[in-house]
Amino acid sequence: MKKTGVIFDLDGVIVDTAKYHYLAWKNLADELGIEFTEQDNERFKGVSRKRCLEILLEMGSIEASQEQIDTWLKEKNEDYLSYITKMDESEILPDVPKVLKYLRENKIPMALGSASKNARPILEKVNLLSYFETLVDGNSVTKAKPDPEVFLIAAENLGVPPENCVVFEDALAGIEAANNAGMTSIGIGEPSVLTEAKFNFIDFTEINLDFLDKLISQE
Ligand code: BG6
Ligand code: MG
Repeated sequence: MKKTGVIFDLDGVIVDTAKYHYLAWKNLADELGIEFTEQDNERFKGVSRKRCLEILLEMGSIEASQEQIDTWLKEKNEDYLSYITKMDESEILPDVPKVLKYLRENKIPMALGSASKNARPILEKVNLLSYFETLVDGNSVTKAKPDPEVFLIAAENLGVPPENCVVFEDALAGIEAANNAGMTSIGIGEPSVLTEAKFNFIDFTEINLDFLDKLISQE
């Protein structure tokens, strides 16, 4: 049997942090006089903080100096962190612990593959850090999803060939990154959005243990 590795995205897969990203971007958008809705926030999923701000400024046709941009990035992150510090285990998405525990019982190595630079404190807050052998996050990559870099580094750190890795993702760019890495992509969320995913589930409550067994045995 081949050795399988499983890689999880963080925001929108393990925890519902999209709402906090939204609130923090909305506060900044209000300050800048830019209209920003939850619908607009969809475009920010899986996208780096820097790129999100670029998109926001494009929406408001605002040009700014690098110094000003750095100030806004810092401000948004401080605001986001003020929500994060209040997080606890109740904010883990449904049935995520069931899947993590099952994979750990079956000695499947697990990695985190996220665009976020706040991955470690969030996993600490919700008490899930110990499940992951390696965290590959926004601090360790140079290329954003859909580039496969984040997942390829995770596979290398796990010592598992990319073709034997499975990726859980809620963003289309993340699904594309997994496919570009030659991995099995599993969409968590709307199938109409995650059109490129090999398998799709609305959330982890839809995933049964038989499916996980098939996945990890990679027959
Ligand atoms: C991704 C989120 O996981 O991380 C994006 O889906 C977010 O919405 C990105 O912009 C970067 O996060 P952070 O925590 O580094 O600002
Ligand atoms: Mg995500």
